[in-house]
Amino acid sequence: MQHFILLVSYLLGSISFIVGLKMLSHPDTARKGNLYAAVGMTIAILATIFLYTDESGKHLGNYLWIFGGLIIGTVIGTMMAKKVQMTAMPQMVSLFNGMGGACAAIISIVEFKHLLHKQEQSTDIISSITEALSSIMKTTVAPANNQLILLTILLGLVIGTVSFFGSMVAFGKLNGNINDKTLPGQQVINIGLLLIIVALLVAMITGFTGLDNTLLFWILFGISALYGVLFVMPIGGADMPVVISLLNSFTGVAAACGGFLYSNPVMLTGGILVGSAGTILTILMCKAMNRSLTNVIVGAFGGGSAAAGGAQVGGTYKEISMSDTAVLMAYSKRVVIVPGYGLAVAQAQHTCHELEKVLEEKGVELTYAIHPVAGRMPGHMNVLLAEADVPYEKLKEMEEINPEFAQTDVVLILGANDVVNPAAKSDPSSPIYGMPILEVENATHVIVNKRSMKPGYAGIENALFYQPKTSMLFGDAKKVLQDLVSELKSL
Ligand code: TAP
Repeated sequence: MQHFILLVSYLLGSISFIVGLKMLSHPDTARKGNLYAAVGMTIAILATIFLYTDESGKHLGNYLWIFGGLIIGTVIGTMMAKKVQMTAMPQMVSLFNGMGGACAAIISIVEFKHLLHKQEQSTDIISSITEALSSIMKTTVAPANNQLILLTILLGLVIGTVSFFGSMVAFGKLNGNINDKTLPGQQVINIGLLLIIVALLVAMITGFTGLDNTLLFWILFGISALYGVLFVMPIGGADMPVVISLLNSFTGVAAACGGFLYSNPVMLTGGILVGSAGTILTILMCKAMNRSLTNVIVGAFGGGSAAAGGAQVGGTYKEISMSDTAVLMAYSKRVVIVPGYGLAVAQAQHTCHELEKVLEEKGVELTYAIHPVAGRMPGHMNVLLAEADVPYEKLKEMEEINPEFAQTDVVLILGANDVVNPAAKSDPSSPIYGMPILEVENATHVIVNKRSMKPGYAGIENALFYQPKTSMLFGDAKKVLQDLVSELKSL
């Protein structure tokens, strides 16, 4: 009966993950979806703690350790999530992802020891591994043979370790503690390390070298850690969200190895969902930037090491005053706001929503143009604007809004740069050439708010700022929006 309830809890957990994930795809349901998945996870954890028994009927025990860890983790996680700024979200995702990778690697370390222990207890190696297998598996999804168990443990170790160390480097980079660094012959070193990892896996599974597996196990761990660091080290800062998503999918696969090992359906489902969702997200982000994954990994794009290349951009730009901006916008029929990373930095989303309301009261039709990689993580702008209660129907995706710019009187760009850079369409030598952009230059007037003429994250100049129809409105986005709202109210 207990086992039946345990399985039902796992089934509930798995269903909640799938439903939760589906709900995450729309801002209206995302919060609830997250909650459903969290409840499912809690049910699965509690069921394992209280209902799981080994073949001798023993419960897990160690409740002090388990609940001590749970309480400490919950307190730290909640505090961090409450304190984190929207702009620091990618770092936090990276840190949490790293923890998942570390857990998967620790599971492999523990289970490897169990396997060895069982081997030592019996003279008959085959029967001892089989015994270990059945005690670990506790049944339904049993791997076909002993090598498969060992392979699962080793894959969990390698992938989890790469994910942990890679995520820590990604965290350091996004937090500004680590700079992009490429060693001479970096790619060759990385490929060499990968080959050593594969060779060690083969040697351990086949027993080919006759060397002590424990020694090989720790060498494998060390090399995987080194690979995790060296794999992420040279990748450009602006590409970190793609890398985090890739590492996220690694963590999912490593967790699925754990699920396979313990024959735990909820762990298996969770791992597979994270693995596939991470992979899909990685592909979507690469597509949105029109770059291949290889280019992301070896491209060293953005993040201070400023992408070189691109035609010389320059000339004169013109500024616009606050009162002229207010008049121009108040007497427009259609206005489109383009939010970017700067809006998030300035935390100006609430003031932006206020501007929207003031303009609508004056009869202006207002929409937001959302570029798929505006900001620093997927959906950054959607979440930012949703936080300020901007109605979701006002947010238009790039494909939908691009044909509408030609009928737009004023485009107001708030802290966005790369996502409106026309070089992506017109300059084959530009590092962002081919990236789909918001075609704002088709509107009648373009007003750009930023603090200076400095480039955006990709480190390249923007010819849009020098076009005759463009006017610069310098200043911090929040201050500028506050002034603009008061100016509009006084009209
Ligand atoms: P960026 O190109 O980074 O431009 C942001 C602009 O905001 C900067 O030029 C900066 O200019 C301005 N800014 C900064 N703080 C400001 C403030 N307080 N007030 C007003 N302006 C401020 O941003 P974007 O257009 O959103 O493009 C995103 C970039 O990230 C792209 O290169 C994209 O490929 C990359 N990326 C994004 C993702 C995802 S998933 N979102 C993933 C990978 C890469 P000043 O310094 O002059 O103010």
